[in-house]
Amino acid sequence: MAQNHGPLVYEGKAKRIYGMNEPGEVMVEFKNDATAFNAKKKSEIDGKGRLNCLLSAYFFELLESEGIQTHYRGLISDNWMVAQHVEVIPIEVVLRNIATGSLCRETPVKQGTKLKPPLLDLYFKDDALGDPLLTESRLELLDLMSSDRRAELEKLARRVNDVLSHFMQKLDLLLVDLKLELGTNQEGQLLVADEISPDTCRIWDLRIDDPRDRILDKDRFRQDLGGVAESYEEVLKRVQEVSSRPRHYN
Ligand SMILES: Nc1ncnc2c1ncn2[C@@H]1O[C@H](COP(=O)(O)OP(=O)(O)O)[C@@H](O)[C@H]1O
Ligand SMILES: [Mg+2]
Repeated sequence: MAQNHGPLVYEGKAKRIYGMNEPGEVMVEFKNDATAFNAKKKSEIDGKGRLNCLLSAYFFELLESEGIQTHYRGLISDNWMVAQHVEVIPIEVVLRNIATGSLCRETPVKQGTKLKPPLLDLYFKDDALGDPLLTESRLELLDLMSSDRRAELEKLARRVNDVLSHFMQKLDLLLVDLKLELGTNQEGQLLVADEISPDTCRIWDLRIDDPRDRILDKDRFRQDLGGVAESYEEVLKRVQEVSSRPRHYN
């Protein structure tokens, strides 16, 4: 377990957020709970909290090394990290490099189509509403952010996708798509927040041709393919081969 933490601030589907003595910081506990289809499907997967926490730490440190600001401060244990407290913008930013999932259910775009430039979509983060896709006019109607902030957010999200795609490519991994949450810290800076893990990214193993066997992400859980923790572990193994251990918070 971790060092002393303050009160539980928020419990979501995958993580618990606790306050800390330092008001600008939070402790994030990654749970083993797995959910899909807006929590209609639920399970527990041994080791998932550890895998997603460690992978997020590696990815946040990679982004940082490329000059991208994130909420991440350091690890406390394998499934706890400290992060800057941010006000999360209630928007899920989704970047797609390859068409699959909801894009192919909702449009005639064929599975596996390369999307160049990557397709960027914004979804309203609201479980009760089922995280609906936002249109230009709904975004304006909801008044969630200024147009300058939006331009900044989209630019940042595209850079994150570029950095992660290149990094994964070197590991024979294909970043198919990813979901980001962004937030603003006390200084009003825009940061990459939440997590970056096989729960929030689709990742395919370029060493495998079989379209089911190559899946290394939450689709294994969504589609009951089994071996969920084993595939996350495979991603971690490849990342660890080329990275130094994430820093410890102190
Ligand atoms: N640095 C942060 N400061 C405050 N809240 C955060 C931070 N990072 C992530 N969060 C929020 O913590 C909550 C818990 O995460 P999670 O369990 O993934 O929730 P959800 O069920 O909404 O997916 C989410 O609402 C997420 O936006
Ligand atoms: Mg989440």
